[in-house]
Amino acid sequence: MADHERYRILVVDDDPDILELLSDRLRLMRFQVTCAADGQEALRTLRQEPAPVTLLDLQLPGLGGLEILETIRSEGIQTTVIVITAWGTPQKAVEAMRAGAYDFIPKPLDPAHLEVVINKALERCALREENARLQTELCGLDRPLIGGSPAMLEVVRTAQQAAASNATILIRGESGTGKEILARAIHRWSPRKERPLVVVNCVALSEELLESELFGHEKGAFTGAYQLKRGKVELAEGGTLFLDEIGDIRPALQAKLLRLLQEQEFERVGGTRTLRGNLRFVAATNTDLERLLKQGTFRQDLYYRLNVVKLTLPPLRERKEDLGSLVQYFMEKYSAELRRLPKPVSPAAMAFLARHDWPGNVRELENAVERAVTLSTEPEIQPHDLPIFEPVAGTAVAAASLGSYHEAVLQFKRQLLQDALARTGGNQSRAADALGLQRTYLSRLLKEMGIREPNRSGS
Ligand SMILES: Nc1ncnc2c1ncn2[C@@H]1O[C@H](COP(=O)(O)OP(=O)(O)OP(=O)(O)O)[C@@H](O)[C@H]1O
Ligand SMILES: [Mg+2]
Repeated sequence: MADHERYRILVVDDDPDILELLSDRLRLMRFQVTCAADGQEALRTLRQEPAPVTLLDLQLPGLGGLEILETIRSEGIQTTVIVITAWGTPQKAVEAMRAGAYDFIPKPLDPAHLEVVINKALERCALREENARLQTELCGLDRPLIGGSPAMLEVVRTAQQAAASNATILIRGESGTGKEILARAIHRWSPRKERPLVVVNCVALSEELLESELFGHEKGAFTGAYQLKRGKVELAEGGTLFLDEIGDIRPALQAKLLRLLQEQEFERVGGTRTLRGNLRFVAATNTDLERLLKQGTFRQDLYYRLNVVKLTLPPLRERKEDLGSLVQYFMEKYSAELRRLPKPVSPAAMAFLARHDWPGNVRELENAVERAVTLSTEPEIQPHDLPIFEPVAGTAVAAASLGSYHEAVLQFKRQLLQDALARTGGNQSRAADALGLQRTYLSRLLKEMGIREPNRSGS
């Protein structure tokens, strides 16, 4: 679908002979052509569905070419305009370029010239799309997947096998174990690696927003939908769609998602036309989907559809062999960011890291190393550079020896908060949820107790 559409061209001219001539020629060049005989019709068509390229005659009755260009610009309609000018009116062409036209072709039309200019315009469209794609991908470009422990190698081996196929993959694992990193690696290992990887975070948005983010919407589908918007499903065409936090998706959308997964079919919000995609799906979650199944909040058919290949990332405490290489990787990464030389980690600090349980997994470790790199003043990283504390279980005993009742309670509270933050990799909203507190109340408590918010990097 998208490939065909990418080559749509809108031709606007009031002279029926020229319209016919042009569209015949363009069709011969294997483009898909839409015609408009005047400015109103042109804008109507463009607002409904912008063509990548518009060929626009400047001399039109009623709404003139320049006015159309202004409207295209002010409404932000995504189309590359090539104007057709009468022979010997270079001034007009200059005005049009100022108003946003990309190039011009003088009449009488020279087919070879036409072809060159259109191909150039299409190249520009491809670049623009590529740019949009790179932007969506930007934050996670090629971050390596570190870890040579047997548990990780096992996951990686299955992941690489599955990557070669088109099978839907479900990645599970505690928060901070690297589900997103693995999803990106799967895309890189797959035959679709030259095509986009598009991430949809199912938890971040309301159901309506999520639907339009996924499937796009037609112009006028709801208040504020001023023009057609393509969804992430269309942006990911030919590539991989990564559905993050899939457990948070609401039942009404689950049905539409199931149809996408099964039939590769969907409709834009407010649209009636069924579109087809060509996608590979990778989903991730750290929620207990089986519990949601029992509660009836997650569709069984969707669950089975997602579960074709299941990968579970082991928590860091079960693969402490990876601590060394992870610490080294993060040490180099954050030292480079701060333009410092990486420091060795003292044996005492390393032992400290090895004793910790890492409830926040790799994210917690990454934060710990980042903090140590930032704060360390000695030639080696020392235990006191690390934001780690003993687990809550030991706290009651430790607190009891603190003397005063109030002091002990305060100490206990502090440990609870720190522990919750560590478990969520510093995510205050999740820590608040886990503790059954309001997010704002939690952040007040943190301030009162002088607990520094751990740096969060990545999510
Ligand atoms: N194997 C790994 N190698 C390198 N970095 C990793 C690895 N695993 C995780 N990380 C880093 O840890 C952080 C958390 O990883 P990621 O976002 O993939 O976790 P997640 O499982 O998706 O967590 P959540 O469930 O909270 O979304 C990221 O900054 C990521 O770069
Ligand atoms: Mg994640």
